[in-house]
Amino acid sequence: MDRNWTDAETSLARRMAGADIISVRQFDAPELRTLLDVVQRFEGVTEPLLDGKVLAALFFEPSTRTRLSFESAMMRLGGKALGFADEKMSSTAKGESLADTIRMVEGYCDVIVLRHPREGAARLAAEATTRPVVNGGDGSNQHPTQTLLDLYTIRRRCGKVEGLKIGFLGDLKYGRAAHSLIEALAMLGNELVFVSPPTLQLPDRHVEEIDALSCRWSRTEDVDAAVRDLDVLYVTRIQQERFGDPFEFERVRNAYQIDIGIVAKGKPGMIVMHPLPRVNEIHPNLDASPQAAYFEQAKNGVTVRKALLALLMGAVP
Ligand code: NCD
Repeated sequence: MDRNWTDAETSLARRMAGADIISVRQFDAPELRTLLDVVQRFEGVTEPLLDGKVLAALFFEPSTRTRLSFESAMMRLGGKALGFADEKMSSTAKGESLADTIRMVEGYCDVIVLRHPREGAARLAAEATTRPVVNGGDGSNQHPTQTLLDLYTIRRRCGKVEGLKIGFLGDLKYGRAAHSLIEALAMLGNELVFVSPPTLQLPDRHVEEIDALSCRWSRTEDVDAAVRDLDVLYVTRIQQERFGDPFEFERVRNAYQIDIGIVAKGKPGMIVMHPLPRVNEIHPNLDASPQAAYFEQAKNGVTVRKALLALLMGAVP
């Protein structure tokens, strides 16, 4: 790997060694840009920078991409990974508290990635251990490493992460991937358009946060009109598992489906993103289009997580 890091990269690396990654709010706009520069340096890198290090991946909620890409990133840099992907397989099923689980796991590893259905679980875990804790998604709150891979994908495709017009479609009430990314894009200076059924709008507390950042934003239910001048359309899954009322979910489950017809109404360069998994909200007829960026986004997850693990372990030049 290239060792000629800039001063900004080196000082960010110093700050991140041994730190936790809980929320995008712990970074400011220049730091987010520097972080993306660091990620770029990890493209294709397979040096054993994390030889002898162990990652514990504790997943109390289903996951495919986040868990496997963290494990892959760890292994590609020479480290090892352990953990569980189902809380029924852990002592939580016997009534153990999260803090106790974390306190014990710290003796088995050097870094912990946690996904949990409760908001604030990652913060609580970080307080229970001196090991770095990475939030792999806490309820409908935050998913900061997803945001970094989303930003990295946007920068690769659009050449920048500021001054863009970005639409968010789907479940803006419960979707943590959307919540984190909306905050980061507002910080970086982008215009946002929110498209959702009225019952799944972005909650007020997030609106207040982006207002405080002087972000330009608008709200609509009309997806055809919204796509006309977007640079990025970020589609999200309706988060069935977060609905208290199954009838409420039934009413909105098929609210939108993006396909080549709808995308053709937008700018030819507009890209379509999705954190995945998708259910019906993107038709497979879009998959072969050069405008579809969602599988590339998932692939970028490994590069982003390699960089993050190396930074947290202090294993960088
Ligand atoms: C997202 C998540 O778990 O928040 N998935 C992911 O990590 N790529 C989005 C989702 O589950 O819909």
